Formats: sequence, C-alpha cells, structure tokens
Amino acid sequence: MEIKYQLLSLLLVLGTSQATEQEPDVPDVYQKPKFCGQLDCPIYRLVKQYDKFEHRDYEATRWVRTPLENDFFGLGMVKSFRRLYKYITGSKAKEMKINMTVPVVIYKPRNQPPAGNSTMSFFVPHEVQDPPQPTDPDVYLSDSPAQSVYVRSFGGYALDSAYSKEAEVLAEELRALGLEFNDSFYLRSGYNDPFTVYDRHNEVWFVAK
Ligand SMILES: *[C@@H]1O[C@H](CO)[C@@H](O)[C@H](O)[C@H]1NC(C)=O
Ligand SMILES: *[C@@H]1O[C@H](CO)[C@@H](O)[C@H](O)[C@H]1NC(C)=O
Ligand SMILES: *[C@@H]1O[C@H](CO)[C@@H](O)[C@H](O)[C@H]1NC(C)=O
Repeated sequence: MEIKYQLLSLLLVLGTSQATEQEPDVPDVYQKPKFCGQLDCPIYRLVKQYDKFEHRDYEATRWVRTPLENDFFGLGMVKSFRRLYKYITGSKAKEMKINMTVPVVIYKPRNQPPAGNSTMSFFVPHEVQDPPQPTDPDVYLSDSPAQSVYVRSFGGYALDSAYSKEAEVLAEELRALGLEFNDSFYLRSGYNDPFTVYDRHNEVWFVAK
C-alpha cells in the first residue's frame, strides 16, 4: 500500500510537465525562479509573458529597508547595503537565521517632484515570521501588500545608467501597449553578488495600476 502510494507520487511528479499541458487549471507546485539561485525570494505568479517584459503578481512581502543616498561614485549604495547587511547579521537576526535573500531592491523616484526618496531593501525570508526590530534608526521593517508589476529583465553587470535605460525602455513599451502603471517611481532588482560573473540577472519593475 505504502510503496504503491510512493510510486504513484513519483509518477505524478515525473508526469507533471505532461499533466499541466492537458490540465492547465491544476496549479503546479510553486517553483522558485532559477535566477533566485540558492536564496529565498518573493513568490509571484506569472500573469503574462510579453515579448520584452513580464507581468507578475507578487504575494504580500516583508522588507527591511534603509534610505539610499544617490551619489556619483556609488558610495551611498555601499553604505546602505552595509546597514542592511549589519541588520541581517546582527546578534538577534543571527539567532533567527535571517539569511541573505534576493532581490536587493532599490526604489528610484522618477518624476519631478520625485515621489519620496530613494531606498534600498532586503527581502525578509518567508521562514522568518517575526523579525527583530532594527536598532539602527536608519533601518526599518516595511510590509508591502500583494502587488502586480511589469518586469523587464536583462543580464550583465548593471550600472545605474543601464537600469535607468531599461526602465525607460519598459515605460515606453507599456505606454505603447496602453498598459497603466505608476510612473512616479521604478524599482530595480539585483540578484547577484559582485563575484558572480556569468548568468547575471537584473530587473526593472513598474507597479501596475
Ligand atoms: C527625503 O530626504 C530628506 C533629506 O534627508 C528628508 O528631509 C525628507 O523628509 C525625505 N522625504 C521623505 C518623503 O522621506
Ligand atoms: C539559512 O541558510 C541555512 C544554510 O544555507 C539553511 O539551513 C536555513 O534553513 C536557512 N534559513 C532560512 C530562514 O532560510
Ligand atoms: C504612485 O506611487 C507614489 C509613491 O509610492 C504614490 O505616492 C502614489 O499615490 C502612486 N500613485 C498611484 C496613482 O497609485
């Protein structure tokens, strides 16, 4: 009985790719996207794959966030990253094993006057239900509601200029298709540490209206 059941499960697992073709209504087991690698990342559902971008529905997420000073040399980026990293490796967070996650998200105000200030955020892992309060006054926890976003992905080592160029391409594309989005800011999501050379994955997001 037991063995039979296990065989059946195995067959079901092996057969999922075929089964989904025949029964698109049966939801698959959630598969973490490849570009998250070994790390935890927010869960989303692909709403639609477009030619140059994707429409995704993200579940509600929790982030640990800090202000980001935009400067030419990227020193602000290093400072903000360090602040967040200090939080996840702090003694309390360590007890809870708050691991590094992806993506590292940067909020970029776009229009004049800009909608708020730039920030950097780390995703709080799903396993950590009750993260410790940050002790650094510049670091805070923030809950994001479930949201629908348009995402354009690109590879390589991305500088500020690459992200903003890709954001403009995405904005143009969305406008051309008549898709509504909040154009007062975009989010840039990085998935790799600087030591990863191949298969680097970067994204720009606009929040759908
Ligand atoms: C943006 O930053 C400035 C300077 O640090 C601060 O005075 C202001 O309150 C911030 N605005 C928002 C919306 O957080
Ligand atoms: C953190 O990483 C360790 C080792 O990779 C893993 O065993 C543990 O489950 C992870 N914890 C969380 C909260 O993701
Ligand atoms: C767009 O985003 C800004 C910044 O978060 C927010 O203040 C504003 O209400 C949003 N606009 C719409 C139409 O949702």
